[in-house]
Amino acid sequence: MHRFSTAVDLRNHLSVARSSQKIGFVPTMGALHEGHIRLIEKAKQENDIVVSSIFVNPIQFNNPDDLSRYPRTLEEDCQKLEAAGCDIVFAPSADEMYPEPPTLRLNFGELETIMEGAFRPGHFNGVGLVVGKLFNIVQPNRAYFGQKDLQQVAVVRRLIRDLSFPVELVRCPTIREADGLAMSSRNRNLTPDQRIEAVTLFKALTLAQNLLTEGQSTAQTKEAVIDVFSGNPNFRLEYIDVVNADTMQPVEEVLAPGQTAICLAAHLGQVRLIDNLVF
Ligand code: PAJ
Repeated sequence: MHRFSTAVDLRNHLSVARSSQKIGFVPTMGALHEGHIRLIEKAKQENDIVVSSIFVNPIQFNNPDDLSRYPRTLEEDCQKLEAAGCDIVFAPSADEMYPEPPTLRLNFGELETIMEGAFRPGHFNGVGLVVGKLFNIVQPNRAYFGQKDLQQVAVVRRLIRDLSFPVELVRCPTIREADGLAMSSRNRNLTPDQRIEAVTLFKALTLAQNLLTEGQSTAQTKEAVIDVFSGNPNFRLEYIDVVNADTMQPVEEVLAPGQTAICLAAHLGQVRLIDNLVF
């Protein structure tokens, strides 16, 4: 596996390969787990070369404590990437990515007004800028993103359309622990007791999906989820929304199969967790 830390070295390396080979790209912030590895494996199946980036993007963190607590495990990550068949890892410094603070601001319209957009002001601007920069540096044919961050998928879809990136966006399923907890780099920051309790998010989502499928209204369903969390003082529920899985806009009715998403975010101690189900 080749490892690069500057854009110019990565571009030079890829310039020859690009003419004859398809490039699959998996952007990450490291602290890799099985969810990331599945993205690499899918990219490997569908492309000639797999590039992954590891960059904890400071400008997408709206909370400085979240940024400082974010786990950094570069050597371990590179071993996992190599074992998964990744060909190239791009791990730039913050100075390499941002020699000066970017002045460009991205605004994703209605996506900014709901859920992650509403509760993490500036977050999608940071995601959009870094993904746009990485697309320009790597120039992939396909890019792989996890359903775990469903609203991020919608943001990247807008980025690709609005800026005409010649990139195919591939959404991959959420990978879960045996008890149902969605894998996340932030799970490492949970205490053993919190780790056990964290499955409450998945249980609440499953309850919500069952209620909606049985014909309960979105309002009743959201109340049931709020009740689950209000009964547990260790959690602070941030939002629970039933939305269109592509546009992320709230819906009152269940849509066609695969079109409805139930999304939530909750704080468990210091750790903020998000999850969703699409059905
Ligand atoms: P990160 O949280 O490291 O996630 C990298 C990719 O892995 C994202 O596409 C995310 O949705 C996916 N992923 C994370 N957990 C997953 C799970 N349990 N199952 C399936 N996929 C999962 O998302 C980011 O980094 C950043 O915002 C980034 C896109 C790299 C821009 O900085």
